[in-house]
Amino acid sequence: MTLNIAFIGFGGVGQALADMLFKQKDRLSGEHGLDIKVVAVTDMMKGAIYHPDGLDIQQLLNVVHQTNRVDTYPDQSGLIKGLDSIETIRNTNADMIVEVTFTDVETGQPAIDHIKTAFQNKKSVVTTNKGPVALAYEELLEIAKENDVYWGFEGTVMSGTPALRMPITALAGNEIKEIRGILNGTTNYILSEMEQGFTYEDALQKAQNLGYAEADPTSDVEGYDARYKAAILSHYLMETPIHPKNILCNGISNITGEMVQQAKQDNKRWKLLARITKKNGEVNATVKPELLDSSDPLAAVSGPTNAIMYKCDLAGPILLTGAGAGLVETGYALLMDLIHYHQEKVRV
Ligand code: HSE
Repeated sequence: MTLNIAFIGFGGVGQALADMLFKQKDRLSGEHGLDIKVVAVTDMMKGAIYHPDGLDIQQLLNVVHQTNRVDTYPDQSGLIKGLDSIETIRNTNADMIVEVTFTDVETGQPAIDHIKTAFQNKKSVVTTNKGPVALAYEELLEIAKENDVYWGFEGTVMSGTPALRMPITALAGNEIKEIRGILNGTTNYILSEMEQGFTYEDALQKAQNLGYAEADPTSDVEGYDARYKAAILSHYLMETPIHPKNILCNGISNITGEMVQQAKQDNKRWKLLARITKKNGEVNATVKPELLDSSDPLAAVSGPTNAIMYKCDLAGPILLTGAGAGLVETGYALLMDLIHYHQEKVRV
């Protein structure tokens, strides 16, 4: 099967996926029977190109690396430049939209409009944007169903660590009673560094230098990023929509070096935990620092690593741990969704 894809946004994550599509071409077609053609790329800052027969991915990546634009791609017959996001979604022969724009996390835009337009035009979507899933899950899912299209968003919670698909597929048949997760790498890294004696400020600076933190780290340290992820988990795994604003949320900015050292002496650790609990059919979610005993498996997860514990009624507690960010890991989450889409299609 050949799948024509269009990138809406072409930053680091989109480029990481494009690089994977180029390097893993043989594996994708040999093992999965999937040939992916990139037909269009549109980016607010880098321009736009479209060729209905497909673009040369290596050439595309070369021009982006050299010029930081995509419309410097060599002119050739049939190549169209300058389409905006909505035109690219509506008026190209892409069957699958890879939505990786920068999203305003307050409004979820412009990603929500991109995804809606795609579904209304009978196009499937894969995305790593948290905003649309946390804020407009039910509405978008309804439109996807009406138009019989696919929506993949594995990367929204733990990038390439399958926090959404693993419980739905491998743990099918269980009722998940509680989810506890370390869902933000920046804050986990800061707390680990503070345990090593660094100040909060120095640890945050290091997290920013290492690229873990968001451009404005408020979203990390005040827990808003984890709150979005908790809302997504509640929507997707607990079938209960919770607006992020209704999730109690305290970040780590009030955790002092003394508190961290005291915890260490008491054989405990502070962790910023998202906790989603289902009781008598009601779901409650919180994001806050919790003092964990060192025997708790989540206490052992340090640095920027993420982890999530599913309390299942049949399988008992299951722990999944891995990267929660990173360009390659997040790009891989999109690839995972593309392969899954293809497997579903082949099965039908
Ligand atoms: N800033 C986020 C983190 C990136 O630290 O986990 C992934 O959402």
